[in-house]
Amino acid sequence: MIVAIDGPAASGKGTLARRIARHYGLPHLDSGLLYRAVAQRLLIRGEDLGDAAAALAVARGIEPKHLDDPALRGRHAGEGASIVSVHPEVRAALLDFQRAFAATPRGAVIDGRDIGTVICPDADVKIFVTASAQERARRRALELGARGEPVDEAAVLADIEARDARDRNRAAAPLKAADDAVLLDTTDLDAEAAFAEAVAIVEARTRRPQRAIGG
Ligand code: DC
Repeated sequence: MIVAIDGPAASGKGTLARRIARHYGLPHLDSGLLYRAVAQRLLIRGEDLGDAAAALAVARGIEPKHLDDPALRGRHAGEGASIVSVHPEVRAALLDFQRAFAATPRGAVIDGRDIGTVICPDADVKIFVTASAQERARRRALELGARGEPVDEAAVLADIEARDARDRNRAAAPLKAADDAVLLDTTDLDAEAAFAEAVAIVEARTRRPQRAIGG
């Protein structure tokens, strides 16, 4: 079973994808980490995020072990990821990695922006997770605060709005719900309720209870 979970920054899609993967015993890929890893490497080398050739060279060298760095979860890597992900050549270079991840016999849960539209257009289940920008900024500020990063909620909201605009308006694989995705608005849902809704969507989409292995 392949489950594609897309949505804007801080919509809760990552937490949801992790829990759905654990519940059904499937491998999980947070595809945002690929773009974050590209951006972080360029930033460390002092290279320009807008330089498509430099970003492509880095993207070609990304390996699974590069995705474990906790620094990738930080604000700079996220902002940078949104910038490098605009380059079509970077997206193309990261496509095989994502398709290969999904192509295991058991399937996978992948979250991102274009999983249901581009990476896995034939996914068994597609969920598009949204929440209001204010609620997403509140959650992201809590998350950054917990990581010990300085937090100004207004600045976080401005970042999220800028990121939404860039992710939605880019020409290559923009953030949008696939025609056959189920929308899940988590603005008024806590993580538990969002998870219950997502399981219900999986079960309804596959029209039979999937074998769950855990909580
Ligand atoms: O999900 P995230 O916040 O880690 O993603 C960081 C950026 O990476 C996001 O702003 C746009 C880009 N991205 C993308 O273009 N396509 C994906 N499938 C995942 C992320």
